[in-house]
Amino acid sequence: MTAAPSPAHDSAFLRACRREPVPHTPVWFMRQAGRALPEYRAVREGNAMLDACATPDLVTEITLQPVRRYGVDAAIFFSDIVVPLKAVGVDLDIVPGVGPVVQSPFRTAADLDRLPELTPDDVPYITESVRSLVAELGGTPLIGFAGAPFTLASYLVEGGPSKNHARTKALMYGEPELWARLLDRLATITLAFLRVQVDAGASAVQLFDSWVGALPAADYRAFVAPHSARVLAAVADVPRIHFGVGTGELLADMGRAGADVVGVDWRVPLSDAVQRIGPGRAVQGNLDPTLVFAPREVLDRKVREVLEEGKAAEGHVFNLGHGVLPETDPDALLRVVERVHAGLDDTAL
Ligand code: CP3
Repeated sequence: MTAAPSPAHDSAFLRACRREPVPHTPVWFMRQAGRALPEYRAVREGNAMLDACATPDLVTEITLQPVRRYGVDAAIFFSDIVVPLKAVGVDLDIVPGVGPVVQSPFRTAADLDRLPELTPDDVPYITESVRSLVAELGGTPLIGFAGAPFTLASYLVEGGPSKNHARTKALMYGEPELWARLLDRLATITLAFLRVQVDAGASAVQLFDSWVGALPAADYRAFVAPHSARVLAAVADVPRIHFGVGTGELLADMGRAGADVVGVDWRVPLSDAVQRIGPGRAVQGNLDPTLVFAPREVLDRKVREVLEEGKAAEGHVFNLGHGVLPETDPDALLRVVERVHAGLDDTAL
């Protein structure tokens, strides 16, 4: 028996991901749920980040907040890239204002034992949260997500956020066999985490390889791409978005790793990105997230430029070039959604 198509199947977002005609350019924002919203800060009061991620009522409420406020075309599941690592037993926490911090960083082959496979029983709260969200969202698609093996490895090896990823790269170049085993473990965990979300009803996924722009293309191909490709292949039943920051040199390879949609940061105009990626892929992006602090006329003009650039693509999902900054005025994002939905024909632009 074939499952009935989800109520979100014909949404503008999923149509754009599939490179089908759309009634308007769909828009959502990376990190749309979070500290830019007063209603988020109110709900999070007294709840640690990782506890909130494991509480279905909170996950559901926080995921819905930006959908209500902005009228975006997709919801992104409220969680974090380190949630599956915590779920398999890695001793880590998310420190406010810092990010993920790992107690005992990954150092030797013995540390591989601390990265067992993830099963759905390790994350019952994810299944429950996704199911509840899909029911609440109706025709609005839910995007599931995970961190890609390289970006997760960076947190594990460095022990926390890092600017240069020096230890991570030292392991990659210096002990390539151990590196391959580490990324293989992380790919196995990541793909299981995405499968849980898709099996519970998420209608697309985004793989965040936020920090992979630290690598040249040849090393990306040799040390990273096969592992990300294995993750993406495991969720081929839904559209897959593949995103990183500073990845102008990697766009073609990130597309070839199996993505349906390639996320582009603000450094590369979308028409150039389309040339680099080639046919058969949609693009997502790429308004500079700092532009929300510019005067409204400038913001409007830049939104229009991104929409114009996006016409070069077979499918365009409007987004920021990276996540919403915490100081962002929610009204500026609301304005962006309105302008994107009005489209290029709108004379007010
Ligand atoms: O709205 C959404 O996009 C969904 C929620 C989401 C969070 N993290 C919630 C969160 C998503 C998609 C992420 C992904 C994530 N987490 C990434 C990839 C995206 C990117 O920005 O490149 C990365 C690298 C992480 C790791 C991480 N977790 C960082 C860097 C931080 C911020 C540290 C800080 O406080 O400045 C976190 C914590 C985190 N994840 C917060 C939220 C809302 C802030 C915690 C809080 O509100 O207390």
